Amino acid sequence: MFTMRVPLSIISTACFIHAILALHNGLAVKPPMGWNPYNVFLCDTDESQYRAAAKDLVASALPSVGYNYFNLDCGWQGTNRTANGTFTWNTTRIPSGVPALGSYVHSLGLKFGVYSDAGYYSCDFVNGAAHWLGSLGHEAADAAAFTSWGADYLKYDNCYSVNETDFVDYNPPFNLEPHFTAMRDALSRTSRPVVYSVCEWGVQDPARWAPAVGNSWRISNDIGPPNSWDNVLRIINQVVPITGFAGPGAWNDLDLLEVGNAEMTVPEQKSHFSFWAAIKSPLLISTDLSRPSQDTLDILGNKRIIALNQDDLGKSISFQRRYTNDYDVWSGPLADGSTVALVLNWKNQSRSLTFNLSDVGFTSAKATDLWSGKDLGIIRNSYTTNISAHGPLVLRLSHTTPSPAPRFTYYPASASKNTLSGGASPRTANSSVTVVGDIGNGGTLTFTGVDGGSSGGSKLVSIDYINADYTMRNTDCSNCRNAFVSVNGGPAQQVQMPLSGQVSFTASSD
Ligand code: GAL
Repeated sequence: MFTMRVPLSIISTACFIHAILALHNGLAVKPPMGWNPYNVFLCDTDESQYRAAAKDLVASALPSVGYNYFNLDCGWQGTNRTANGTFTWNTTRIPSGVPALGSYVHSLGLKFGVYSDAGYYSCDFVNGAAHWLGSLGHEAADAAAFTSWGADYLKYDNCYSVNETDFVDYNPPFNLEPHFTAMRDALSRTSRPVVYSVCEWGVQDPARWAPAVGNSWRISNDIGPPNSWDNVLRIINQVVPITGFAGPGAWNDLDLLEVGNAEMTVPEQKSHFSFWAAIKSPLLISTDLSRPSQDTLDILGNKRIIALNQDDLGKSISFQRRYTNDYDVWSGPLADGSTVALVLNWKNQSRSLTFNLSDVGFTSAKATDLWSGKDLGIIRNSYTTNISAHGPLVLRLSHTTPSPAPRFTYYPASASKNTLSGGASPRTANSSVTVVGDIGNGGTLTFTGVDGGSSGGSKLVSIDYINADYTMRNTDCSNCRNAFVSVNGGPAQQVQMPLSGQVSFTASSD
């Protein structure tokens, strides 16, 4: 017998070796910033609303800190093409026409974005009954039309991608990538630079192929509406395995911002905004800016947080450690050699929380609190402060002293001396590694002979696991799995494991 305490945490040991084959259209070298109507107006938009929204964006002064794309979303399209096959708009909703609307947006000093779909029709708000035009099979004509109307940005959605009756298919029976490369190639044959935003909702692991296709790719199902803290958590868990796939010109898109909309508290909105910024997602405001609250303007306008997003290095933060039901630690490098550390309080209570510098690899650092701007001086080993319920702590760390990397003894789950019961069974993963599956729902795995040291005490346990079950909807544990770990027969302690990857899609040959 040995005694040891298992810290309630999972640390990230994942290491991704890959080359980013970016699109290299020279655009979105930094994540795009701007405005999109969807989270606040859904598809229920018209020209006067768009014109007012563009004016509101300018009046908010947010373009001066970088928000300069003004994008359309669903609801402006026509239902029939012209006799010669040109895309049309809904003349009731957009009476002056999309080109005139684009000119107006440009006249305000903003860039203009349009929206279409890689399917037979585009997405709508009446469960597919609207039959607004999509671009599948018309890519060349539509790219030519959109650019002739002055488009600088195209969000390309994924409704009706399978056939003319299947509105939204999260499991299409073929490879979606060609739908998106067709529009990429069509755009590249126009003479206008157009930021290209791939939106297939993360269903076919786009981080693995979309860097060569678009300037960004949606990694998940919609954040809302309605928005919720649970949606934010679902998306955060989904980005864990793919943070390394983002880079200049090619970004993980965590979806539109919900800052300024109801449902989330101000600290939750700050966590959401900090995370989106530091992960290098496009920052697309999606709230009504006609009467923004001061909190909304303060969050969206925080230059220190925006600077994380627009940092010259273009590297995403990555997952470092989760203290289950307690807090997360994420970090990443910045161009000036400093590090951003992000702590998210999972408890729905304001409390004193201690951030351990070793969780981001340091023993000491000079720290600045990026929300307040306060210089915290040199912090050693840890920093304790009050964090709001579901709120963030975002620190910029410089003059860092590295901490020694933890050393682990590796205990394979499939070792013959371990005990499996209740249906847990070994299996081969990736044709190379034997793992143990079917743990949970009665299945248990017991490691024997784990060295707890002669004097017992606290030991750090890191668990290698595979969880490739991504989800489109919020669940009890969205894009995560719960393990319950008991040491020496002690009480089971929950360890929550975020998504570790997705199963790559392979089209069958028949
Ligand atoms: C979804 C997309 C949303 C929004 C919506 C419009 O497919 O993910 O961001 O564009 O369609 O109906």
